[in-house]
Amino acid sequence: AEIHYHDFVVQETPVKRLCRTNNIITVNGQIPGATLEVRDGDTLVIKVLNNARYNVTIHWHGIRQLGTPWADGPDLITQCPIQPGYSYTYRFTIINQEGTLWWHAHTGWLRATVYGALIIRPKLGSTYPFELPKLEIPILLGQWWNGDIIRIQNQVMFSGGAPNISNAYTINGQPGDLYRCSSKDTMKFYVESGDRILMRIINSALHQQLFFTIANHKLIVVGVDALYTRPFTTTTLMLGPGQTTDVILVADQAPGYYYIAARAYESSQNAPFDPSTTTAILAYRYAPCSSQIGPQLKPILPTLPNYNDSATVTAFTSQLRSPTNVSVPTDITEDLFFAVGLGLVNCNPGPTCQGPNNTRFTASMNNVSFLLPQTTSLLQAHYLNIPNVFTTDFPPVPPLPFDYTGNVPQALWQPIFGTKLYKLKFGSQVQIVLQDTAIVSTESHPVHLHGYNFYVVGEGFGNFNPGTDTSAFNLYDPPQRNTVTVPVGGWSVIRFVADNPGVWLMHCHIDSHLTWGFAMSFLVENGPEKLQSVQAPPLDLPPC
Ligand code: C2O
Repeated sequence: AEIHYHDFVVQETPVKRLCRTNNIITVNGQIPGATLEVRDGDTLVIKVLNNARYNVTIHWHGIRQLGTPWADGPDLITQCPIQPGYSYTYRFTIINQEGTLWWHAHTGWLRATVYGALIIRPKLGSTYPFELPKLEIPILLGQWWNGDIIRIQNQVMFSGGAPNISNAYTINGQPGDLYRCSSKDTMKFYVESGDRILMRIINSALHQQLFFTIANHKLIVVGVDALYTRPFTTTTLMLGPGQTTDVILVADQAPGYYYIAARAYESSQNAPFDPSTTTAILAYRYAPCSSQIGPQLKPILPTLPNYNDSATVTAFTSQLRSPTNVSVPTDITEDLFFAVGLGLVNCNPGPTCQGPNNTRFTASMNNVSFLLPQTTSLLQAHYLNIPNVFTTDFPPVPPLPFDYTGNVPQALWQPIFGTKLYKLKFGSQVQIVLQDTAIVSTESHPVHLHGYNFYVVGEGFGNFNPGTDTSAFNLYDPPQRNTVTVPVGGWSVIRFVADNPGVWLMHCHIDSHLTWGFAMSFLVENGPEKLQSVQAPPLDLPPC
């Protein structure tokens, strides 16, 4: 195994997109930031120096951080932020993980521009569970705003209203041909006829679930969230923010130019969203060179599903399987039910009350809208026994059971605000039903759990029915993920074993929802010494 050393300098960088220059926060001046390429078993040592004017932390999305919770990165959960002028070195080892993950800022909305790929290849001497591809192409989908993203975040938080919609989506930082002033920088990926290409697709967009497709080509799905899947063929993927999908693409079409394209999947009936389409070009090498693309040789544009096409989403997610039968926890000792979604709180009309009908937006899990601690991180508070930072009374079931997908009166669902954790005994077998509520509207949510992968044993529409729905669970070969798509007006059920001590955030990976309070944290107790326990914090852990 190797040790990889990297320096990340977080800095302000002028970047030109959509006919204008924006000053954005980058790592080492790049967007996306560096692709980290490692093998299972390797160790990463990344020194992050903050030369920007905002606090920052970096999260290694999907890395389990077994025994190294101090390196996980979410601001005020496992560390205090790295303040301007300071640095922190993240050290962690990849333990039994292979595939496509990514890294991103985990402070405010900085991850809009602070993100990159983290690719984990099999150990030396071992290989993929599929034919070796000739090429590997990372595809990072992003979302771009003209304007300072922290200003936009603060304006949303202050006004209580919805965020203004983005100005573009991007592929590897570029909006592509269909946007103004963007053609000449459109990403081009060159292939030769017959090539087998492994595409590692990452949805790093701040707020938007996205459909993804490539004109005239089939995609063989082989993994999601750095977990292999049983291969299946499709034309369209849907990725929520945070999710990754690995596909094999065979260059088996007539030599020419084909658009790779992504645009919004928007399940909410009344959320404003950016309807534009980002493209890159899949270019066969023996096609006439790009300067000669005339009207007749324009890249072929694929058809994307309608923005609200939830049937296509279900068709995709319901085909995901683990490659072989797996050992799903079946002696559930923690049977949890989390009703999740957006909410509204009443407020006095004025500049800070720009939600619908004299309200502000909030979001909650079991009607608790999550507040970050102020003075120290949750993990430090836990490790050092600092009182009054959090409570451990996060409710295991909703305060009121009812028809979550009907129009429940808002007054019955006014969230309380708090920093509430749920305590799990080391080794407990956990099941969580994640049920979408319809207080504002029904909506699909990408729910991410830090520190764990989990099995997705079931999903469906409407209210979860413990009787009939439980008997339909797939306990044989369900897919594993770190971010699950909870269906619009529906539910997903996940299972995992609490074998990683620490404090682990669970949240919607749509950042506006996270900021509004769609989050909670698990506190997983230490295991027997030899198995797993939280080690002392690193000496350079940032002070608050
Ligand atoms: Cu991808 Cu809490 O993060």
